[in-house]
Amino acid sequence: MATIDKSNNAIIEPLAAIPTMMGSGDLKLVRQVASQLPKGGRILEFGPWLGGVTLELSQFGNCHVVDRFEWTSFNSELLPGLFEPGQSFRPEFDRLMELNNVDVTVHECAFSDFEWSSDPINMCLIDAPYSGKGLMDCIRPIASSFTKDCRVLIKHGANAERISFIAAIHRLLSEGYFEVEDVGQPAWCNIAVLKTTPKTADLQDLDWNQDALLSPPSEIDTPDPWGGELYLSAMYANAIEQGNWLRVYEMLDQQIPKRAILKEWDEMERRLNTSGVTETILCNFATVLDVHNDVPRMRLGNLDPTHSFHAALRYSWIALEGNESRPQIFDIDALAAAFVANAFSVVNQLGGPVSDKDISLIGTRLDLFGTAIMAAGARSFLGIEVTDSNNDSTIPRMPIAGAAIIVPLTNSDVYLREHFDVIGVLDNFTLNTQLEQRLGDLTQMKAAKSAIFYPNVGH
Ligand SMILES: C[S@@+](CC[C@H](N)C(=O)[O-])C[C@H]1O[C@@H](n2cnc3c(N)ncnc32)[C@H](O)[C@@H]1O
Repeated sequence: MATIDKSNNAIIEPLAAIPTMMGSGDLKLVRQVASQLPKGGRILEFGPWLGGVTLELSQFGNCHVVDRFEWTSFNSELLPGLFEPGQSFRPEFDRLMELNNVDVTVHECAFSDFEWSSDPINMCLIDAPYSGKGLMDCIRPIASSFTKDCRVLIKHGANAERISFIAAIHRLLSEGYFEVEDVGQPAWCNIAVLKTTPKTADLQDLDWNQDALLSPPSEIDTPDPWGGELYLSAMYANAIEQGNWLRVYEMLDQQIPKRAILKEWDEMERRLNTSGVTETILCNFATVLDVHNDVPRMRLGNLDPTHSFHAALRYSWIALEGNESRPQIFDIDALAAAFVANAFSVVNQLGGPVSDKDISLIGTRLDLFGTAIMAAGARSFLGIEVTDSNNDSTIPRMPIAGAAIIVPLTNSDVYLREHFDVIGVLDNFTLNTQLEQRLGDLTQMKAAKSAIFYPNVGH
């Protein structure tokens, strides 16, 4: 039934139904935002399809749409028989707009070819790109044209199923290009409503590539539309799906602890495309994520790294806080091998965290012990591997596991005692008389810095 517009007494015809892919929750949100626009505001819509949303938007401002108008097989599934895949559906869009008296400026092109005049834009709705790069194709040409109060609505921008896409949104938020607006949307409405910031215009010069998606979390909070940490958790999920574990632990190392991410991660983990990622690997990550975001932080004194592998992970992550090598030391396979070899028992026997200590161990299987010692926060580790065949008395002067043999007391021994806080003689090799004598001499050395101890690690 027609109604009368009281402002000018014009007859308003009821709108002819136009198919739309958005549900009523989405449309309600679109209307809610559009209704805040100043009179005559300019609205830019990427991906109008047949114009169902355009029709709504046209009631609130001057509409521009960008679409290549190419019918797809997915469109045919939704509306069988209207067009063949590959055909242009522009005639139908034009017909429906005309039928509803909608005045719209059409930009028929691929998003990547779109150019904009630089007229100010008050609202932008983007519905189609599924990747950060696709999103940037839309935003880059208009980034410097948004008005201060402009709102950018991105369909699927808060859709937890679209991991790489929302990881891209996380990047835009964490680098300060946009902020999420709290519009009170229901949980099933996955449109992200973004506010511009003083930095938004810089997007016109941003060179977006896949690696950049892995940019670290920043000090800027990135809450999702419901105040949770969906975006932060998508950042990890995206890096995990790409198999970039070093990057995952680098990002975790830099992330400001937030308890709320743990709830989000429980959900996100189930959505991961886990081909090539075993449950065990995910479990390990969940443990480290948990300890990192455990606020207030668990105390090291309450943890025994020999208790279980996950206890060793927790212990090591905390012990390495502030250590710039933490992500590299968090090579989970190496830590697991060290744990299985009972190497963390040395950490316990040393009396706990060994932060800021230089430690040298004499014995065998030192790569494993070195891993445990470094994971417990040591400043440096020198392994002196005892072999039967090697008579070279040179001790490598580097803070990593190396190979050497001890024969008569040398300058290297002096260096050992003066440089290291602790020299441990493991019981996993057989002492010969010569070596025993030499260790005795080493122990007797006067004015030495190091303590010598004899951890029991078994053969
Ligand atoms: C998901 S539909 C939009 C649905 C619409 N918002 C609705 O609710 O009815 C995506 C639209 O974007 C267009 N599109 C997708 N990718 C595009 C691209 N790279 N360049 C131009 N148009 C594109 C499609 O032709 C389609 O009309």
